[in-house]
Amino acid sequence: MRLELVSLTAALGSSAHAAVAGEKRLNNGLGIKPALGWNSWNAGQCNAASAKFALDTANKFVSLGLKDLGYEYIVIDDCWSTKSRNSSGYLVPDPSKWPNGIKAVSDQIHSMGLKFGLYGCAGTMTCAGYPGSEGHEVQDAKTLASWGVDYWKYDNCYTPCNGGRVQTCGSPIGNTRTWMTTMGNALQQSGRNIFYNLCQWGRDSVWTWGASVGNTWRMSTDNWNDWASVVRIASAAAGISQYSGPGGFNDLDMMQVGNGKLTPAEEKTHFGLWAMCKSPIVLGNDLSKISSATLAIVKNKDLLAINQDSLGKAATTFRPSGAAAPVSGQLYPYWAGPLSDGVVVGLTAANGAATLSVNFKDVPGLGSGSYSWKELYSGQTGTGTSVSFNLASHDMVVLKVKTS
Ligand code: GLA
Repeated sequence: MRLELVSLTAALGSSAHAAVAGEKRLNNGLGIKPALGWNSWNAGQCNAASAKFALDTANKFVSLGLKDLGYEYIVIDDCWSTKSRNSSGYLVPDPSKWPNGIKAVSDQIHSMGLKFGLYGCAGTMTCAGYPGSEGHEVQDAKTLASWGVDYWKYDNCYTPCNGGRVQTCGSPIGNTRTWMTTMGNALQQSGRNIFYNLCQWGRDSVWTWGASVGNTWRMSTDNWNDWASVVRIASAAAGISQYSGPGGFNDLDMMQVGNGKLTPAEEKTHFGLWAMCKSPIVLGNDLSKISSATLAIVKNKDLLAINQDSLGKAATTFRPSGAAAPVSGQLYPYWAGPLSDGVVVGLTAANGAATLSVNFKDVPGLGSGSYSWKELYSGQTGTGTSVSFNLASHDMVVLKVKTS
């Protein structure tokens, strides 16, 4: 469901918080690298929350070669259950969407070497009006475990609110950490090790505590399938890069590549920034309709290797000498981050076609020497103390720069 932007700016205002001292990471052994997968929501909202979509996508993971590249989780989002619990309080898979139940589907997905995820919500209802887990956390976590669920996305609609229970509360009673933790504890006691994706849209400075509660945390409102969303989310991620690390990553939200609204250049920038920022890469398109251009982007081995680098450090913006300072909410052209075997540098033509240059000595982690580099979309390579690219509007180059 489309959420209204209710006073989220205020909630996001304190991004300068330091990491809470002594905060322990969840340490459930999952999400050591950013998750790679697919989620049904952007592909077809409620219509895609079915066994058929899950299994068709699992087959596509194999036939398109995505599984071999590490794409692993098939996650079904909102609308998979019936509109009410059964008389014993259990969630019930909608029989018209899951004719053989959930377990049969997760078994089949496991037999293909893949993992299966589901969506739930911390309030009384999910965002689309299906039963939420409030007051049923332990029961639901056990149900998920019994179905063989590997990944749980947990949303924030219809949570305690001063204005009565509403879909998106502008004046909450309490803190999202409370209900995200209640479910986290229930998952830990469920008898199954389940990846935990917090989806409270970046409220309550989640990046400062998300790693102690879950494996990934949404740090923004939704990616609405437009360029403005890519700009909004990536620019916000630049300010909180330090909170991502093995086992706990900022989640920049599900991908919109392949959904027909972004230009080819914008799809490259969307994917490139998410990869550099160490966001989970959760595809959100119908894989039976993917174009060869979009497929080439999501199968780019070099970019996936940047995302999955063992250091797990998210890139952020840097300011070359002479460049204008970043402006909050606007996409900055210059990005970089450390890798286990080099440095990744991204250049984005955020405001129209541009020639963008960078002297390597201005890049954090690099110095005044000569470096060899590879541009990861074109495969172009070079050596020198600087690079320069002519970029089309909203296009991006991503360079892997070797330090040895
Ligand atoms: C919220 C979430 C989305 C999606 C929908 C489903 O908007 O942020 O990612 O799960 O709910 O209703």
